[in-house]
Amino acid sequence: MKILVTGAAGFIGSKLAWLLARRGDDVIGIDNINTYYDPNLKYARLAEMGIRLPEGCSTGSAVPETGNDGSAVTFPEMPFGVKAQSVKLPNLQFIRMDIADREALPKLFEEERFDKVMNLAAQAGVRYSIKNPFAYIESNIIGFMNILECCRYNHIKHLVYASSSSVYGMNTKVPFSEDDTVISPVSIYAATKKSNELMAHAYAKLYDLHSTGLRFFTVYGPWGRPDMAPMLFADAISKGKAINVFNNGDLIRDFTFIDDIVNGTIQVIDKIPVAGECPNNVPTKVYNIGCSNPVKLMDFISEIEQALGIKAEKNYLPMQQGDVYQTNADTAKLENEVGYHPQVQLREGIVKFINWYKSEKNPLT
Ligand SMILES: NC(=O)c1ccc[n+]([C@@H]2O[C@H](COP(=O)([O-])OP(=O)(O)OC[C@H]3O[C@@H](n4cnc5c(N)ncnc54)[C@H](O)[C@@H]3O)[C@@H](O)[C@H]2O)c1
Repeated sequence: MKILVTGAAGFIGSKLAWLLARRGDDVIGIDNINTYYDPNLKYARLAEMGIRLPEGCSTGSAVPETGNDGSAVTFPEMPFGVKAQSVKLPNLQFIRMDIADREALPKLFEEERFDKVMNLAAQAGVRYSIKNPFAYIESNIIGFMNILECCRYNHIKHLVYASSSSVYGMNTKVPFSEDDTVISPVSIYAATKKSNELMAHAYAKLYDLHSTGLRFFTVYGPWGRPDMAPMLFADAISKGKAINVFNNGDLIRDFTFIDDIVNGTIQVIDKIPVAGECPNNVPTKVYNIGCSNPVKLMDFISEIEQALGIKAEKNYLPMQQGDVYQTNADTAKLENEVGYHPQVQLREGIVKFINWYKSEKNPLT
């Protein structure tokens, strides 16, 4: 199976591309390697996958040359459009490319003849969408539209794409079920993710493009994102700085370990929705993918404190714009229809994350 993974230098995409290639799929990863967060981490994830800079470019190695000390970010530059081969897996390649590029992406689809597409490339992060909403329109709406068009014209067998638990917005009924009405987003990020579900539905109906949307619930683990709470907390606590605790700690999150997310996503990639089993006979589905074990923020913080062996200094703050009070996934559909079973409980997952955080593999410490 030949699979395109977009967002392949990202937290979820790098692990997914690696595991798909390791089980034998032909994988091409693309990513624009933007600077929303430190690209050293993105290049380090690529290096972990055996992706080196193509010859003649910069230093010839994708390993970051300097760590991030919080000031200037220095990193080797991967040129756009050049295919880089993994030195670890012959069936894994990477190209720096923007999914919103309406010349390069259709050309890539035409040349590579993918069977399936996993779209993880997006402007992520709820809080940043308050500051820079247009970045979300560019990647999550225009970029996603470009993906849909390429899938349509190249007869892609299955498009799987990242949605988000944030689509549940102001809903108060828990656990969140795919059957709940979701019409009250509280951020432009959430609105773009809900839009993706609607756009995918339209293309499934119009062009028989089979698709599955995955509503990810707060993913954490090794190689995680520096803009998300687990890394922000680990970083501040280990450097003796105060952590920001929003809504005075009264928040609930369904934290989901990266391995469970990636294994569940692979199960979904393998299961192409059949029209007869979908609402209105339109071949598209949406699933929650979470841990179904929501925890209080303060309990989450104590797990990180325990794993680090350091007590956190806490800076209690009001609720942030764009944030929701709780996330809590009902994953019965994914379990029954796809066979998903999350394995990693919070304590074990936090220990794995902190072990990585303290290791030399982490380019940001
Ligand atoms: N991590 C979570 O907890 C979480 C929760 C809900 C949804 N999601 C969604 O899952 C997906 C993956 O998230 P992640 O945590 O790995 O985020 P990430 O930011 O680490 O990965 C996304 C990658 O996409 C790339 N990208 C952004 N815009 C692009 C564009 N226009 N063209 C090409 N590449 C582009 C970025 O450079 C980045 O490497 C995203 O769609 C995100 O919205 C993640």
